[in-house]
Amino acid sequence: MSNPTPTPQAYRASLLTFHADPAFADDAHTWIEDGLLVVADGRIQAAGDYATLAPTLAPGTPVADYRGHIITPGFIDTHLHFPQTDMIASPAPGLLPWLDTYTFPTERQFGDPAHARAGAEFFLDELLRNGTTTALVYCSVHKASAEAFFEASAARNLRMAGGKVLMDRNCPDFLQDSADLRDSEDLIRRWHNNGRSMYAITPRFAPTSTEAQLAATGELARAYPDTFIQTHVSENQDECAWVGQLFPQRRSYLDVYEHYGLMRPRAMFGHCIWLDDTDFSRLAQTGSAIAHCPTSNLFLGSGLFDMKRADDAGAMVALGTDVGAGTSFSMLQTMNEAYKVARLKGSYLPALRMFYLATLGAARSMGLEGTIGTLAPGAEADFIVLDRKATPLLARRTAHAGSLEETLFALALLGDDRAIRATYAAGACVHERSPAFTPSN
Ligand code: GUN
Ligand code: ZN
Repeated sequence: MSNPTPTPQAYRASLLTFHADPAFADDAHTWIEDGLLVVADGRIQAAGDYATLAPTLAPGTPVADYRGHIITPGFIDTHLHFPQTDMIASPAPGLLPWLDTYTFPTERQFGDPAHARAGAEFFLDELLRNGTTTALVYCSVHKASAEAFFEASAARNLRMAGGKVLMDRNCPDFLQDSADLRDSEDLIRRWHNNGRSMYAITPRFAPTSTEAQLAATGELARAYPDTFIQTHVSENQDECAWVGQLFPQRRSYLDVYEHYGLMRPRAMFGHCIWLDDTDFSRLAQTGSAIAHCPTSNLFLGSGLFDMKRADDAGAMVALGTDVGAGTSFSMLQTMNEAYKVARLKGSYLPALRMFYLATLGAARSMGLEGTIGTLAPGAEADFIVLDRKATPLLARRTAHAGSLEETLFALALLGDDRAIRATYAAGACVHERSPAFTPSN
């Protein structure tokens, strides 16, 4: 178990943090070239200029020397599936055959607690290697899978949200549950806001839930209003047509969820590709959020998310890897593909905006502003150290970057887990590529 370090520690590096969305504010970020981050009791105590802050440190405070590196808040991945780690990069012609051929048989194995425990450890290792300190995670339908996920996450003192998948029709018998949501409620009572764990009520998607299960899900979400809700919506055109047949009385796919009370703050809708203008407006008006998952959408050929339409409607957007349909755990690689999807939709996604979306933007979309996604004093000390020279090509490209935007763009386009020099959670080092501490006083 890694506990928050009780005594202050300091980290010297360039610092990057956000206080607004760069798409809507000119002065949205703070950049400190020679900065110092001071951490105590698992929280950020101060962030500022090295020259100003260093003299205020108590004598003997260790200072890790990360000069030449960039410290940002840890990345937040708002949509991925822990039991799908082992089937990442499984080929199929689209979402529905992919679910039948690979996903359901793979998730079946997570009924075995030992398998789920081992899978959870690997999954968390992989997140931390990629600089992801918070994720909103789908477990399998089995209660044991969620138990394994939370136990592993709590043992590392990580701020993670997750939930057991709900599905009671249109799935193999071996993965079917029911409209009795006792397992989910037990998990909420045991894990929600227990330490840094948070629960997400997780109907897989409308086609695999009966109306009775969706109604019960809405009741559970009302009874526990600060839990998360996560599901998929309008990912693939075949799926949308299927939902139209299953729920002919509903105005749209998204309206199925609204009808059952599943649109509210802390509801995260994965994909949102084939929405209409009313849907985007309802997302904004209900305080729900979108998890844009570009590597998954390109991999499955689902479609191209329209960030500009979401922005125009005022809907909150964050990024998700959607592993295992997503092809990388890296939020840098997710930015890379989000950039290209934006270009194909005729818009432009600056690197500063992408880093905002992966940090403060995601924290806001999850109702966790002030807690994570920032280097502001008082926030939990979940942060990463980015190495702009992690590979020969990155080193060569960033050596002549003319601006912060160019440096971040190179990191997003060329970077991956190798660019994560270190990951800290609640002030404890939880991943490190090479020795971190070279105390300078
Ligand atoms: N829709 C329903 N289940 C899934 C899933 O596991 N992955 C993706 N990408 N879409 C889904
Ligand atoms: Zn998904």
